[in-house]
Amino acid sequence: MIHSLKEPYYLNKNLNRYLAYKNKNLSAKEIVSSINTNRDYEYYTNTKKTDTSTYQMLVNKYYYLEKNYKPTLVTQQSIYGRVNVQMETKTYEQFKKMYAKAKEENLTLYVNSAYRSYSEQEEVFKEYEKTMKEHVLDYAAKPGYSEHQTGLALDIFKPGTTTKTFENTKEFKWLQEHAFEFGFILRYPKGKENITGYDYESWHYRYVGEEIATYIHQNNITLDEYYAFFLE
Ligand code: DAL
Ligand code: ZN
Repeated sequence: MIHSLKEPYYLNKNLNRYLAYKNKNLSAKEIVSSINTNRDYEYYTNTKKTDTSTYQMLVNKYYYLEKNYKPTLVTQQSIYGRVNVQMETKTYEQFKKMYAKAKEENLTLYVNSAYRSYSEQEEVFKEYEKTMKEHVLDYAAKPGYSEHQTGLALDIFKPGTTTKTFENTKEFKWLQEHAFEFGFILRYPKGKENITGYDYESWHYRYVGEEIATYIHQNNITLDEYYAFFLE
């Protein structure tokens, strides 16, 4: 257990929790990332109101937004995706740049969903609950706990693709290589389900700003881990 001390994201304030978290056969690295991201707490317990003053705000199963939280919104032009989709203004500026760059390679990005109010997320959650039953928490956030309410999260597809098929497109591959250059990260990556608390989503991108997106991309970590170590 003392090995945790050598982990790059070791936090002294979490030492007792690292020591107590021996229930599974986890490596020191896994213990540090799990505890830093609160995985010793049941989902939706020990929750905190998130600090919404920066583009790095963390919204997950432990950090929430107030019911009436609403960012400054703009409605996207329909060439960028579904009609009447709204998102946060800077996020839109950056998405438009990313869209134009992808277009240079004959690739087309399509935003299907972005900002969702608390009550819209309530509807989304109920819909998922009908089909996913007890697994609903792997796929949808409870209202107040969805990144979509920040206006900084975009569900991006190639026109005509679905959550099942998008990852097989050149558009997806291009985003894997270039999204960070515009300040976006893939928020729920494959293999990080235990940290993010969500099933892999090839389509859900989050604007965090270029500097942090670059760090997260290059170091193969999640926003949850970055926040715990550098921002909290
Ligand atoms: N599908 C994402 C996790 C949400 O509901 O916000
Ligand atoms: Zn999403």
